[in-house]
Amino acid sequence: NTAGTEAAKRAAGEAAAAEVADGDVVGLGTGSTAAHAIRDLGDRAAAGLDIEGVATSYQSRALAREVGVPLLSLSDVARVDVAIDGADQVDPDANALVKGGGAAHAREKVVASAADRFLVVADESKFADPLEYPVPVEVLPDALARVERAVRDADGDPELRAAERKDGPVVTDNGNLVLDCDFGAIEAPASLARTLSGVAGVVEHGLFVDVAETVFVGDDDGDVTRTT
Ligand code: A5P
Repeated sequence: NTAGTEAAKRAAGEAAAAEVADGDVVGLGTGSTAAHAIRDLGDRAAAGLDIEGVATSYQSRALAREVGVPLLSLSDVARVDVAIDGADQVDPDANALVKGGGAAHAREKVVASAADRFLVVADESKFADPLEYPVPVEVLPDALARVERAVRDADGDPELRAAERKDGPVVTDNGNLVLDCDFGAIEAPASLARTLSGVAGVVEHGLFVDVAETVFVGDDDGDVTRTT
C-alpha cells in the first residue's frame, strides 16, 4: 500500500513494537507498515531484548534476518505472545480487517490465531465502513473452478491474481493461487467469512473478524491512536 505516508506507518509500527517484552515470541507481519515494527525490534534485539520471531512470509523472514531478529519456524510454534501485522482495509467498529494484498494471509492468519495478542498497524487511509476491499482467497490450484463458482454463488466477482513481471498467476509461498473476490460493500463480514471458510479448496481467505486486540493508527504527524 502506498497511500499512507511513511511517517504514519512508522509511528504505528513502532508503537506496536513497544508492546513487545523480554522473552516474547513475536509474530512478524507482512507489508510496509509491519516492516517498521520488524526494524524497530531488530534495533531493540541488538540492544539486548531477548525475543524470537515467527515470520508470516518470505518478505518478513528476509527482513528479520537482515535486522537481526532470531527466528523460529512457524511449523514448530503453537503459541505466540504477540503478533504485529498490517492490513489492507480496517473497519474498527466491526473489528474486521481485509488482509492478503501481499498474498500472505494464510500464514498471517495462522500466526494471528496462535497469538495471545494480535496488534494491527495501519494508517487512516485503511479505514472503511463497511469494508469494500476485494477479499483475497488462497485456493488449492485444482479447486480453482469450483471455488470461483462458490464465490459467484455468494454474489462475489472472483479475479485470478496475475503476477507482475511474469506471464501467469501469482503463486503463494504455499504453492497456491489467489482469487481477489469483489463482494462490493461487505455488510456482514462474519457471515461472509464463515461462507468462504466452508468452501472446499479454499486454503484461507483474507477476512479477519474479531481477531485484532488493538489497531494502532498512525498519522502524518507521527501521532498514534489506539482503537482500544
Ligand atoms: C499481506 O498479505 C497483507 O495482509 C499485508 O499485511 C497488507 O498488505 C499490509 O501491507 P501495507 O502495510 O504495506 O499496506
